[in-house]
This record gives sequence, C-alpha cells and structure tokens, in this order.
Amino acid sequence: MASHAKVYTLDEVSTHNSSEDCWLVIHGKVYDVTKFLQDHPGGDEVLLLATGKDATLDFEDVGHSTSAKASMDEYYVGEIDTATIPKEVLDTPTKQPNHTKQPNHNPGKTSDFIVNILRVLVPLLILGYAIGVRYYSKSA
Ligand code: HEM
Repeated sequence: MASHAKVYTLDEVSTHNSSEDCWLVIHGKVYDVTKFLQDHPGGDEVLLLATGKDATLDFEDVGHSTSAKASMDEYYVGEIDTATIPKEVLDTPTKQPNHTKQPNHNPGKTSDFIVNILRVLVPLLILGYAIGVRYYSKSA
C-alpha cells in the first residue's frame, strides 16, 4: 500500500479544510474524512479543527478504540511528506513522551469528565432504586 501511495505535502493537505472537503494527517498518513464528518462520534467540529496540521496527538489523546483505528483504512488517501510538517507540530507521541502540546486541543476532556461522573452515578441510581423497591414492597 505505502509503496504506491501518493505522497502529499502539508500545504496540499491543508487546502482540504472544510466540511465539504476535509483531510487529516495521522501517524504519517493522510485521510479524507469528508464522508465521515457527520458520523464521527466525536463530532465534525474536532475533525475540522484538526485539519492543516499533524493531528496524531489529537487523535491519540482521545484514546480511540481498536475498531476506530481499524476503520481509518476506509479513509486513507496517501502518505504525508513529513519534511513538510513544521518540527513543533510533528507528533511523535510514542517516541517523545514530553512532546510540546499543540494549541487548541482539548476535545475529549469535558465529555470524559461527564462519562466518568455517569459511570459512578448510574450504578448508584440503579442500586438506590433496587433498594427502594425492595424496601417499599416489604413494607407494603
Ligand atoms: C480517521 C480519523 C478518525 C476516525 C476513524 C475516528 C473514529 C472515532 C470513533 C469510532 C469514535 C468512537 C469511540 C471509539 O471507538 O474510539 C471516535 C470518538 C471520538 N473522536 Fe475520533 N476518529 C478520528 C479522528 C479523530 C480526531 C483527529 C480527533 C480529534 C481532533 C477525534 C476526536 C474524537 C473525540 C473527541 C471522540 C469522542 C470521545 C468520547 O466522547 O469519549 N477523532 N472517533
């Protein structure tokens, strides 16, 4: 795949930065996610914000599932010429744990927080309900 792949510069990829035409650079590969924008569980906005740069860190920070990673093949259009990515935004998270964070990034944090609260609250509510029903049926 990679040997015949078209190699794009970051400038070329950056022209595809709208909801009608949206390309992303993740792990050295270029993805045309235009058709996926509306279906992306994280929303189209984060994807549009991730255009025109190396979005690897943004992608990894979310902790995408294995199935999400597998589905990326569907949108693959080529490779990025890494020499065209400015050093400060070139993401190499696995090799460089102390990398500089890209600005404008924090897409998953609020929803993570809500999910974590729900993870505690929902079982508590169910438990409370079960105890309530038991207590009520005993006393009735
Ligand atoms: C081709 C690229 C991408 C694909 C195929 C993809 C796919 C997915 C899928 C399937 C999910 C559901 C959760 C999961 O299975 O992990 C998801 C969630 C999400 N994605 Fe992506 N994604 C892509 C790129 C990105 C990028 C570049 C960002 C950030 C800029 C992003 C941000 C998010 C966020 C914030 C969520 C929601 C997480 C949550 O609420 O817990 N995604 N994505």
